[in-house]
Amino acid sequence: MKFFVDTGSIKDIESLMPLGIVDGVTTNPTLMAKEGGDPRKIIKQICQLVKGPVSAEVIATDAPGMIAEGRDWAAFDEHIVVKVPFTREGVKAVKTLADEGIKVNVTLCFSPTQALIAAKVGASYISPFIGRLDDIATDGMGLVQQIVDIYRNYDYATEVLVASVRGPMHVVEAARMGADICTCPASVIEACFKHPLTDIGLEKFLKDWAAAKK
Ligand code: E4P
Repeated sequence: MKFFVDTGSIKDIESLMPLGIVDGVTTNPTLMAKEGGDPRKIIKQICQLVKGPVSAEVIATDAPGMIAEGRDWAAFDEHIVVKVPFTREGVKAVKTLADEGIKVNVTLCFSPTQALIAAKVGASYISPFIGRLDDIATDGMGLVQQIVDIYRNYDYATEVLVASVRGPMHVVEAARMGADICTCPASVIEACFKHPLTDIGLEKFLKDWAAAKK
């Protein structure tokens, strides 16, 4: 499973890249607003650091506007994946952009029918928002399982990008279901590293080694 970082923070990315596990980045308007700089400049920097797929979201809500923004993003950097919300207008835009060879990540997916339609129009990625479903007492990971099953039946090329991830158990479940990618806040990636028995074990090994040398 690929790991993407869900962030607009250069600091987060710089700290995670040396680990060798970051395959890409997803951004959204909210994450970019948090950073407080020129979003385009920050996204350019992210592309240079990651050299992998970097999702940048369109702001227009009509298909012609989304298509124009999508083309502009695609020309901006070779690593850009255009993020388009799942709406009727969004679907039209995805079809046009995908037919032109532009990679599209369909965002704000909350149902298996949305995921099926996104795949049919040629989305490169579908982003089911798991945490936001869990937040309203709905089964977020259940949606991922349904999408994985549907895509396998038809051999769609669309990759399942698990989004709105809240903790390491979402990562575990995504991997068990065979999702292609999990996009995580930096804090969730850090949490995936931690195990108290590793810390306790290492402390004892170091102590014992020091004692043996005496
Ligand atoms: C994914 O592409 C989105 O940026 C993100 O995962 C949304 O997560 P949130 O529900 O924590 O805002």
